[in-house]
Amino acid sequence: MNDLAIAAATRVLAENWRGTYTVPAAGLYPHQWSWDSGFIAIGLRHISPRRAQQELDSILSAQWDDGRLPQIVFNPRLDVQYSPGPSFWHSERIPGSPVVPTSGLIQPPNHALAVLLVHEADPETSARRRFLERAYPALRAWHDYLADRRTGASGLVHVVHPWESGMDNSPFWDGPLARIGESYEGDIPRPDLAHADASHRPSNAEYGKYLYLAARYRDHDCDDRDDGYPFVLEDPAVNALFIRSEWAMTRIAELLGEDPQPHRSRARALGESLDSLWDDQLGCYVARDAIAGRHERFRTVSGLLPLLVPELPRTERLLETLHSPHFGLGSAALVPSHDLTAPTFDSARYWRGPSWFNTAWLIAEALYERGYDDAARDLSSQMADLGLGHDFPEYVDPHTGEPRGTMKFSWTAALSLDLFERLHRSGETA
Ligand code: SER
Repeated sequence: MNDLAIAAATRVLAENWRGTYTVPAAGLYPHQWSWDSGFIAIGLRHISPRRAQQELDSILSAQWDDGRLPQIVFNPRLDVQYSPGPSFWHSERIPGSPVVPTSGLIQPPNHALAVLLVHEADPETSARRRFLERAYPALRAWHDYLADRRTGASGLVHVVHPWESGMDNSPFWDGPLARIGESYEGDIPRPDLAHADASHRPSNAEYGKYLYLAARYRDHDCDDRDDGYPFVLEDPAVNALFIRSEWAMTRIAELLGEDPQPHRSRARALGESLDSLWDDQLGCYVARDAIAGRHERFRTVSGLLPLLVPELPRTERLLETLHSPHFGLGSAALVPSHDLTAPTFDSARYWRGPSWFNTAWLIAEALYERGYDDAARDLSSQMADLGLGHDFPEYVDPHTGEPRGTMKFSWTAALSLDLFERLHRSGETA
């Protein structure tokens, strides 16, 4: 990446900026997405720390009364351009929803991590705007929601929909979805297919299950009290990001003169519970179906993301798996979302094989922290090259680096920019 590349990434983020937040991609995802905003803010802090703060303020201001941060905050003017949109959710009819229309589901909790990184980029502006003072209570309520309403006997947080994991069609969900007999009976609009090739997206059969679950959750007022609800899954990446964000909360609390101890205790307790998702034979973490009480035994990038967890006992084994032919670190493009050698691997289809830039960023972050600077720098340079070389694609083919999904994707631009800044600071420009 050079000055021209920085300008190109900045331009994508400017085009996708909507005044107080950034859309992930103008056509495919025309609203605000929760974990996208976290990742986007991490890149925006290099362009404008104030805009990065606004991005996070904006998602935090859509918080529900129970503390949840919604998966999507809708622009109601664009209802038919995205499905399921505001007229599917009708969040205004659900007690405790905010003034703005939103989805009732959640996404992985990367927000406290993003808030801390954005604050550290410009502590003066942050202090002047009382950014941490505003964000901290909202983040605390968000994490309390996860701990109180989304945590089962295992001590881990669960998701109630594949969309909540951010990795919609991961092979983790194949078994649990197949065990649900029902499928959605209404129309299944697919406006997404106007913006990305059908072979890069989840299938219609998967959408039938997605809408069935979303409608059932909505019709129960999203209250997490539906006893027979059929999809309750513990995902390694969701829990790893929660732990990582809880560690970020210890620092935010210290900066504000608050007590960091409750955050540290929760982070450590979750870290210990995470061990129940370890699969020694596969050499990575896996998901657990809390209803069937069984592990979904696939190697996915989600199962590598506990690398982000401080004090993790399994680091060496995870690094071996990352370098093995299953993920091919160094020879594959970025980090594949699914095991390159698995029969379920598909190099083009969303989270069943393609390499994504947010997971590569998280792994680069973990590698830097653990002192594997060469591998981290290599991944960072690849991100910059692949991002820029293909107009910031949503994901790439892990064998060829060819772009897949949509282009001008905001977190690809933001996170490539972030890693470039780091390379630049350490004098190792790509
Ligand atoms: N990833 C979902 C989609 O494809 C939404 O979170 O629309």
